[in-house]
Amino acid sequence: MNDRPVRIEGGAVSHARGSVHHPLFARLYARLAIAADRAGAAEHRHELLEDLSGRVVEVGAGTGANFAHYPDTVTEVLAVEPEPYMREQATAAAARVGVEVRVVPGLDSDLPVPTGWADAAVASLVLCSVSDLDVALAEMHRVVRPGGELRFYEHVRSSDPRSARWQERLDVFWPYLFGGCHTSRDTAAAISSAGWSIDQQRDFSFGQGRGPNPVAPHTIGRAVRD
Ligand SMILES: C[S@@+](CC[C@H](N)C(=O)[O-])C[C@H]1O[C@@H](n2cnc3c(N)ncnc32)[C@H](O)[C@@H]1O
Repeated sequence: MNDRPVRIEGGAVSHARGSVHHPLFARLYARLAIAADRAGAAEHRHELLEDLSGRVVEVGAGTGANFAHYPDTVTEVLAVEPEPYMREQATAAAARVGVEVRVVPGLDSDLPVPTGWADAAVASLVLCSVSDLDVALAEMHRVVRPGGELRFYEHVRSSDPRSARWQERLDVFWPYLFGGCHTSRDTAAAISSAGWSIDQQRDFSFGQGRGPNPVAPHTIGRAVRD
């Protein structure tokens, strides 16, 4: 199989086998995620995964910050993570939790599970970073059984038009600094257009510092696969 590196959108380097290399961002994010969890993100992760059951595919699991929040009604988690350092951290996190979590390499666009295998897909702070949002949502739609769920927790486009325009301008360079992350994506609209029906959603602001924060607008919720 060809494992030749290919440069993709946002400065990431992708390999044909499904990896993404963001060595600096991965190390920075590992620290930021701990701080964010202390500041309230851990509660959001708990809310994200509450009452989930069955087999789950988590896309772009990062350092495994969600793993401790899976309820014991979840029988198995396949955690897909393309970045080697993140995957190493996630593998260590998986060993510390009671729920069975398997951490594997892979990309949002080609999840390593058969069609309809999962009862639910989990996307947490990842749909900002995938190369193509519609492709990611279509692939999650493929792997989740009809009637299954997508749980999402994402920072998103501002509902204020001026702030959204500012986010769009930032997205010219922001992905190169922050592991492919985009600030202006209207993720909930994309979910609804991709064969999912959102039946629970809460929009909120998180991470406000002293100045304006382009990644403060967040949404968390649940969509059912049509
Ligand atoms: C901001 S981190 C979020 C990590 C984790 N989901 C969390 O909630 O903390 C973004 C994650 O998306 C992953 N990622 C980036 N591009 C991806 C892709 N094309 N497919 C799957 N995951 C991707 C990164 O490696 C990273 O782990």
